[in-house]
Amino acid sequence: MCGIIGYVGEQSAQPRLVAGLQKLEYRGYDSAGIALVDDALSVYKQVGLVGELDLPADSPQTCGIGHTRWSTHGKPTDANAHPHTDCTGDVAVVHNGIVGNYDDLRAELPGHEFRSETDTEVVAHLVEEELTRTDDLREAVAAVVDRIEGSYALGVVAAGYDGIVAARRNSPLVVGHGSDGNFIASDVTPLLEHTRSVSYLEDGDVAHITREGVSVWHDGDPVERTVKTIEWDADAAEKGGYEHYMLKEIHEQPQALRQAIAGRIDPLEERVDLDLSLSASFLDDVDEIQLVACGTSYHACLYGKQLLETLADVRATVEFASEYTVGSGRDPERTLVVGVSQSGETADTLRALRMARRTGIRTLGVTNTVGSTVARECDDALYIQAGPEIGVAATKTFASQVVTLALFALSVADSRGELDPAVGAQLLDDLQALPGAVQTILDREDEVAAVADAYAGGEAFFFIGRRFATPVALEGALKLKEISYDHAEGFPAGELKHGPLALVTEGTPVLAVLTDGARPEETHNNVKEVQSRGAPVIAIASESGREGDYEVGFGVPELGLLEPLVANVYLQLFAYCVADTKERPIDRPRNLAKSVTVE
Ligand code: G6P
Repeated sequence: MCGIIGYVGEQSAQPRLVAGLQKLEYRGYDSAGIALVDDALSVYKQVGLVGELDLPADSPQTCGIGHTRWSTHGKPTDANAHPHTDCTGDVAVVHNGIVGNYDDLRAELPGHEFRSETDTEVVAHLVEEELTRTDDLREAVAAVVDRIEGSYALGVVAAGYDGIVAARRNSPLVVGHGSDGNFIASDVTPLLEHTRSVSYLEDGDVAHITREGVSVWHDGDPVERTVKTIEWDADAAEKGGYEHYMLKEIHEQPQALRQAIAGRIDPLEERVDLDLSLSASFLDDVDEIQLVACGTSYHACLYGKQLLETLADVRATVEFASEYTVGSGRDPERTLVVGVSQSGETADTLRALRMARRTGIRTLGVTNTVGSTVARECDDALYIQAGPEIGVAATKTFASQVVTLALFALSVADSRGELDPAVGAQLLDDLQALPGAVQTILDREDEVAAVADAYAGGEAFFFIGRRFATPVALEGALKLKEISYDHAEGFPAGELKHGPLALVTEGTPVLAVLTDGARPEETHNNVKEVQSRGAPVIAIASESGREGDYEVGFGVPELGLLEPLVANVYLQLFAYCVADTKERPIDRPRNLAKSVTVE
């Protein structure tokens, strides 16, 4: 995710940048750096926490930018830490986001010397090129961002140039208006000790921040952005104004989902490019893909299995990592094990992957954490690019895992020559529409809160779905039990009548997913079965099929096989709101840990 900061004013910049970065460390903390500028540029950056930076005792510069990093492209190393500089050493850039087309842009810069493996460095070299045409840094940055695909919040400084140039698209950036200088930052947390007056840049804005003021341009024209007063206290600010990290992370999903696909879909060729070393011929020959994981990641694998089987016509199996054995009768040369782990450190998942490797099976790690043990030990790593998740209950990373597995399934299908072009094109469209669809659910949080309030007293809660909604039913139940401590169970809807129905009474709300990709007509019969036993039904259905006879009905925009993933956002909000009415310690539920490093 990364945190960025910038200051230009009357005071020394260094202490302000350092203090600000320490407040942003929750956004990433594998390396850090600052650039200080006047007529010359000085850069200090290294692996480790902000507090470990090797900095001068004091520094006269009153302008600078800083960064705390959560790796996406390139391992956590000194060279990959931000700020990144151009060949002349006069331009420095900090960036939060992903430059999707950095490979192409780099190819357009022959003769430039690149010193890192990051996507960001290309921006510094592009600015260098532009500065040969103009001496206006703002104009140079505006020309560069026109060429960037993907997401960015950028801070750029250059030796001899007054102030900071900032730009944003799909990554957060706020401007702080202080009495002795002005700031940019990824969020308001580091600004509050200096000012409560802020303005938010909009997508496509390019701003010039000087000690005297802030000017903003959009599409080449000057624009005004309203200055607002922040009322939050520091604790609320760290959580983006939300009461808990979990709620903040639920709301971060549109952004996380954009990042998951950034740079991975070639819009012209309508193809997925994941930059893996697994060859097309290996994937073409593979007999079985085994997915292994724990907890929420296991549920993402269940979704992934169905995508793999549907799109790529390949045998896919899912196992709890703690239960994994290689099994007999498998040809290691024609088997792939995919370990899915948000943290990349879960002991059971590591054990399963190591077991597979010992028998000569190739392994792919799907993780959120660059440099984690899963990423280092697997033959290949695929990052979900969701940014740090702090709430113990996984939310945004589940969505990002499913989307990353969907991209993987498309790429496997392509390698095997199994991809139906119409199905592939539709899924690519749906993946790109997903962040917007998720946002429509987030906008209805108040309605979900009212429903959660009405049903929070349930004796137990059951979640049902079919096909792609089965993992979502399991995940919905897991979220609720983790944070509210209520008895909650998820089932494939057809299994209800084989036992769980005995538990259904008028005191047990049933949450049913009846979207596309979930065979809603069949699940509708199960809804009738529980209703006839008096259970209230909270139905989440495709917008087109919502006209049912349910106690509560929520709609999901049309999105094919991804509709259950959108439905999941209602279930996350429901779990959160039920737990909140019970005043549970939502971010740190009892007995649970974010990363379980024991078997
Ligand atoms: C713990 C966490 C869960 C997580 C599971 C797997 O139980 O509380 O939220 O899903 O570990 O973690 P991983 O990092 O491997 O995805």
